[in-house]
Amino acid sequence: MKNIVVFASGSGSNFQSLINAVSDGKLTANIVGLITNNRSAFALERAQKHGIPTFIISPDQFNSEPDYSKTVLSKLEEWNTDLLILAGYLKKIPIEIIKSFDNRILNIHPSLLPKYGGKGFYGSKVHEAVIRNKDSQSGCTVHVVTAEYDEGPVIGQSTVQVADSDTAASLAEKVLEREHILLPETIQKYLKTLKN
Ligand code: GAR
Repeated sequence: MKNIVVFASGSGSNFQSLINAVSDGKLTANIVGLITNNRSAFALERAQKHGIPTFIISPDQFNSEPDYSKTVLSKLEEWNTDLLILAGYLKKIPIEIIKSFDNRILNIHPSLLPKYGGKGFYGSKVHEAVIRNKDSQSGCTVHVVTAEYDEGPVIGQSTVQVADSDTAASLAEKVLEREHILLPETIQKYLKTLKN
């Protein structure tokens, strides 16, 4: 079975959906660690509750990006990591890590990429823009992480209808519900495509 490490910065409800999918047998993988940049992330409590090792590390603690990457990579090696999942992780992944895990980093984003992707579009910012633009549809996307922010190949997408009565908060809730289904399902399919 493959070893997955999840990166999360906040609540970690997507992280929880992976924990649940593993225990329900819908995701056949081991979640071997959680990495967060935020020591008050609720995701940490979720990890502790399920006995998943955690590592708190932020690029801000380092003088250079390569030093930061080296420390993260040595933790990933210690955990025998096969696949990284960015589940609500709000820091940039340095190029050294992207190169070491070529095609082995997936990200979930709360929009129908390529719409509302890139710098400045994360979490509530995305939903506020969808409401402002009166889009009739939104959704979530899982993509492979490449050096171009939010631009790697899309491997899963789920659409929701935006009602006239929706606010950014109600839309966020609708999309998040879909994320919790899309992310484990997409990872399960993606794992089958990975060699060894
Ligand atoms: C999710 O909606 C996720 O798609 C989004 O942050 C939220 C985290 O929720 N990620 C991004 O915006 C990344 N650009 P969670 O902590 O409850 O999983």
